Formats: sequence, structure tokens, C-alpha cells
Amino acid sequence: MHSKPIGVFDSGVGGLSVLNALKEILPNEDILYVADQAYTPYGKRTKETITARAIAVTKWLAAQECKLVVVACNTATTNAISQLREHFSLPFVGIEPGIKPAALDSKTGVIGVLATAGTLTSTLFQSTAQDFTQGLEVISQVGHGLVGLVEEGKADSQATEKQLRDILHPMLKKPIDHLVLGCTHYPFLTPALKKILPKNVAIVDCSTAVAEQTGRLLDLHNLNNKSGGKTDYYTTASPKIDLWESFGVEHVNQVAI
Ligand code: DGL
Repeated sequence: MHSKPIGVFDSGVGGLSVLNALKEILPNEDILYVADQAYTPYGKRTKETITARAIAVTKWLAAQECKLVVVACNTATTNAISQLREHFSLPFVGIEPGIKPAALDSKTGVIGVLATAGTLTSTLFQSTAQDFTQGLEVISQVGHGLVGLVEEGKADSQATEKQLRDILHPMLKKPIDHLVLGCTHYPFLTPALKKILPKNVAIVDCSTAVAEQTGRLLDLHNLNNKSGGKTDYYTTASPKIDLWESFGVEHVNQVAI
């Protein structure tokens, strides 16, 4: 079992931010990456649809004999991780907006969270926010249109910078000292964000923490691979080669899930 791949999925290319951290921390693991681009963006969909897609993609990953699944999507994690754990006996690692580390580290007591509507309205996000941000001001904004811009290969464009300026305007009127990136597409906006955010605002991205947690789970279940290291990429839509190439991926397979 230890030589089987890790399955990783997102609604699109956003999960590549998590994949990059996984490859750095676990370079000897084989990985199957699925971008559910036929259904992107997840953020605007209902909890039922997000859950159905997460189950369908995981079923496919399980059929490929994945030994563990990383849900490289905040929207899928916050809406569907408990259903995934009920349906499958596989170990799962999810990703959630890092409000806890931001809250613990905040000096001004004001933190910003940027995420999809699906994540911000989820019960899991709301209960975590309630548990860890008592006495703090949390300014949450939906990142309208941002996933689409990343999926169009426009992460570092003027259109994205303008959209970000509009979205961040309300929180930049307040003394935020942390901006939590609550969507795996958003780390690709870091160059644009750095142009906009004051220098004292720390950007919080959980991809490294997710990769470290994956390593801990592999240790726990004695599933570490010592001789792998290849990644195969799949998309549920017709592959947009230019987009994938801009992320350094040369070959993507289309899969019907
Ligand atoms: N990258 C995903 C997330 O972390 C999904 C975004 C979307 O499809 O709306 O939330």
C-alpha cells in the first residue's frame, strides 16, 4: 500500500498551491491530481452539489487505489469533509482558512479573511471562527471573480489587481495585520496582493501546514513511499493546455467523473 499514490483534488488549478507544498515536503510520493474543472467554481454551488462532486472525485481516486486523499480546496473541505469521512475508509487531509494562527498572532486584533461564498457560509467555517476569534474583529470578504481569473491564467494581470483592490477596500479601511487566504486559488494572487497590502499585513496560507499534516498521517498509517515522486494530472473538462503550461504542467489527461 505504501507505494500507492496520494490523491489530491480541487475544483481547478488552485489546488496546485497545495500540490507544490506536498511535492516539496514529500518528494518521494506519487500523486494523482484531479482538477474538477467541469464544475468550477465550487464556491458558488450548493453544499449538496459540492458534496456530490467531492464524493464522485474521491470515488474515482479510490478506484485508482489512492492510499490517502488531500482535499486541496477550502470550499470542498468546509462543506463536505465530514461526508467524505463517512463514505470512505481512506485517511483524508482537508484545508480550511487559517483563522486560528492569524487570530493567535494578531497584534491589532483585526484580521481579514478572503474566501469563496461557499466557504464563508459553511457551518464548519463559522464554528471555527466563533471558537478562535473571540474578542477579535474578523472582516470576511467573498473573493468575487478571483477563482475565474486564476482559471483564465490571469492571476498576475491588471484586471486581477483591480478586482482585488475593490474586494479588499473595506478591510483596508481597518487596521488588519493578517490576511487569511481561504481559497487554494488565492496564493497565486500573492504578487498582486503584495502590490496592494500595506507591508505590515501578513498573508496566511495553509498549504505548508496541509503538506506537513499529510506527512504526519502517512507516518501514522505507515504509508510512506520511499521510491516514488511522479505526479499525474487529470481534469474533468477539456484541458486548456496554455493554462496548465503556465503552471509548469506539460501533460494533462481528461477524465469523465
Ligand atoms: N480552490 C477552491 C477553494 O479552496 C475552490 C474555489 C472555487 O472553485 O470556487 O475554495
